[in-house]
Amino acid sequence: MAENTQVQLVPKQASAPLNRFATPLDVKNLVAQYGTPLYLVDEDTLHAKARELQRAYSKFKGPVKVAYSIKANFSPAIVRAFMKDGLTFDLTSLGELHFIRQCKADPENVIYTSVTEEPEEYVEVLRSGVRRIVVSSHKGMMNLALAAGKVGVRPLTMIRVNPEVATDAKVRASYKNGKFGVPFNGGTIDSATKMVKYLMGSDLLKFEGFHFHLGSQITDFSCYTHALDKMDAFMTKMKKEYPNFQVNTFDIGGGTPVFYNDPVPTPAEMAQNHLVRLNQLAETHGVFTLMIESGRFLVAESSILVSRIVNTKEYNEHKIVIVDAGYHILLDAALLKQEYPQEVIPVVDSQDRTTGLATPAAKNTHLAGRLCDTYDVFPLSKASDMSGADVGNYVSFYNVGAYSVVFNMPFHCQTKPPVVMKDSDGKYRLVRKGTTYEQLFVEEGGDIA
Ligand SMILES: Cc1ncc(COP(=O)(O)O)c(C=O)c1O
Repeated sequence: MAENTQVQLVPKQASAPLNRFATPLDVKNLVAQYGTPLYLVDEDTLHAKARELQRAYSKFKGPVKVAYSIKANFSPAIVRAFMKDGLTFDLTSLGELHFIRQCKADPENVIYTSVTEEPEEYVEVLRSGVRRIVVSSHKGMMNLALAAGKVGVRPLTMIRVNPEVATDAKVRASYKNGKFGVPFNGGTIDSATKMVKYLMGSDLLKFEGFHFHLGSQITDFSCYTHALDKMDAFMTKMKKEYPNFQVNTFDIGGGTPVFYNDPVPTPAEMAQNHLVRLNQLAETHGVFTLMIESGRFLVAESSILVSRIVNTKEYNEHKIVIVDAGYHILLDAALLKQEYPQEVIPVVDSQDRTTGLATPAAKNTHLAGRLCDTYDVFPLSKASDMSGADVGNYVSFYNVGAYSVVFNMPFHCQTKPPVVMKDSDGKYRLVRKGTTYEQLFVEEGGDIA
């Protein structure tokens, strides 16, 4: 972990309100129709988040593009919603490209950042009309050049830099000798210095700019400050070596945080940390398009997972509440110990007979999933309310739109829950069917004799 772990900006809100876009009555009706577990998505929240992120950087001197990192949630319904906002799509695999093409998004609005960077992969990407590619290694860049020659186009090529700054985040992507990007000068061909040199003299690839991604759920923004200072120094050095060196696009990656357990700074507060530096960069090195990537922030608050309490047991002042969800549909609860805010939605009469109030939460309530696995216990958020946690009632998990649906897995022969979207006109519509045991059996080869 980085030593510099102080949160720089104190968030103004004491706590973030939960997005209860579905009323308890809506939840009851939808569960009656689709059962539990059930994901609910709110389209208006998606649009609101896109606007909020765009607004946060509106004081930047040049054009600003917000790119949705579809790895966070590749639901076609969500992709189509963001197409209405004119977002760019940040893709990282041919599978994601397939989804974007099926949704008929404009390839002009795609930035492709691969980890594998294979020649055939790049051929397919270029043939699809995508022109903005981020390369993360020297070999990857040469593969792109090969593909460009084959397809007969000259893609706009950005270099993914690993600024090697300490990042205090739930998921870190910038650290010394890390997997992502190249250092400024690593002493081998896998360095930004050598890659700029190649690009400045290449007829196959056109140098477009730089990209870095520091991590996810970042609340200490000093890593951006350090990374931008390093970028500034590097760009000054490159300009001295290549008089026609010009950055057209500068992409500062993702990381905008989301409320789970503790209040987090808003995108505006985050932007405030680095807008002065970004504007200085534009003044010193010429105006560029600023790209902001985001997965988590754009989708997390749009979604609720509704589960049903199927069992409870009590001993030694501990109450174990078992729901029909599990980490197979909310992986980060186990992987990152993510504290999704939870709330009981009462459906059965769970009034305490003496007080007339909902059964108060036991002193030590443990919310457990349905899997036969030790890690299948959901950490409670400070915002969670477990009063009324009795069999038959529902438990809603909030802010689950990012990195959950995409991780659905069949551990213990579990099926995928349906996804229902509340459209901007207020109507609910099924956007993903749930799967059945029979489908899973066939998928696993059960029909192959
Ligand atoms: C290159 C890149 N950009 C953007 C993101 C999105 O990050 P976040 O969801 O924190 O906004 C990721 C996440 O892994 C990423 O790898």
